[in-house]
Amino acid sequence: MRIEPVPALEGHVAVPGDKSISHRAVLVGALCDGDVRVSGFGRSADTEATIGAVRALGVEVEEHDVDTLTIHGAGLRGLREPAGPIDCANAGTLMRLLAGILAGQRGRFELVGDESLSGRPMERIAGPLRRMGARIDTTEGHAPLAIEGAPLSAIDYELPVPSAQVKSAVLLAGLLAAGTTTVVEPIPTRDHTERLLERAGAKVTRRPTSVSVEAAERLTLDETEVAGDFSSAAPFLVAAAIVPGSALTVHGVGLNPRRTGLLGVLERMGARIAVYNRRMVGGEPAGEIEMRTSELVGATVLAAEVPLLIDELPLLALAACHARGETIVRGAGELRLKESDRIEGVVEALKPIGGHIRATRDGFRVRGVPTRLRGGIVDSLGDHRLAMIGAVAGVSSQEGVELRGSDAVRVSFPGFFDVLAQIAPGSVHYPPAA
Ligand code: S3P
Repeated sequence: MRIEPVPALEGHVAVPGDKSISHRAVLVGALCDGDVRVSGFGRSADTEATIGAVRALGVEVEEHDVDTLTIHGAGLRGLREPAGPIDCANAGTLMRLLAGILAGQRGRFELVGDESLSGRPMERIAGPLRRMGARIDTTEGHAPLAIEGAPLSAIDYELPVPSAQVKSAVLLAGLLAAGTTTVVEPIPTRDHTERLLERAGAKVTRRPTSVSVEAAERLTLDETEVAGDFSSAAPFLVAAAIVPGSALTVHGVGLNPRRTGLLGVLERMGARIAVYNRRMVGGEPAGEIEMRTSELVGATVLAAEVPLLIDELPLLALAACHARGETIVRGAGELRLKESDRIEGVVEALKPIGGHIRATRDGFRVRGVPTRLRGGIVDSLGDHRLAMIGAVAGVSSQEGVELRGSDAVRVSFPGFFDVLAQIAPGSVHYPPAA
């Protein structure tokens, strides 16, 4: 696919429901007593894998339309042993959260994933779950995972790396564990699981750097709405920040402060951002974000801030290429363990098209020049976030970008190129059909 440069981006758009929250709505919905209606569901390859997983566990899911579901909850102990392995596809959130849920259920379960997911670390969840009494085997630290349901007991667990997926796996297991399960997180991570469990009636106690959950009798949640995915809005916001003369508003976006670290960093860099019409959607802050182009300067991001923009750090690298001076990101070694090694991936994407970026052990350094990048070829390496960066680099470049592996966007945002074409008319060129 080719992405051509545009003079400016303009308009008003909305993005599909948050991927992290959509996974959780389906998984927690499956554990509820009675029906849970989910609106604003963010449909993507990842979240469809979650629907498939709960169906395999005997939960009925009605799909009313693309973004509205009813989950007929099976109850906290009601999941059934499936006929075969559960395919988590590319979705780390699904595999790790589901492992926490299944640890205390009756039956044997096998969780498998695609090549990328099968290369990602799983001992980080298996370790604490075993301490709770779970019987869980990894394959040399990776998927496939074999889980045999067992009685669980509560633990106090301090996260060795900041990870909302690990925290969530332990908290979800904690629902079935005798006692009070506590997760300590010296560096706070996204809190969607805590928010949803609280709304579903679990006893959750939150402190600045820890969270506890009590064993639960039952969960109920009549309905929940999912706000737009900040991580899906971010590519367009960054495009508007760097393509001269742009003005773009993204409506109905999740504004959970544990997710919007990119806005804080861009503000430090001099971005012109307005957030308005703040409201609560499904127990999460949401609102409209308006971005106008401005002159940017470099910034420094340190470890404590990293989880607040972990999935947006590669995009920040692209913004930094356009900012005067140096941008430094440290304490982000976790980027190497995502759907791809996103430190190497972002350097491989941006350097050949004119970015002055170099990888460090736990982050990257960018020397920005306030001008459009030259353009050239970007390969997503099968990673959805890198595909979106390649596309934004294309609209903001001088000569355009030939984007290879563009279909990776289906993992989180299948309609990405339609929205891009709407705000950057003439930019998106599909190859002729074979
Ligand atoms: C997620 C947590 C983060 C994030 C991922 C989604 C979640 O991963 O990178 O895209 O939904 O909990 P880690 O928990 O591994 O940091």
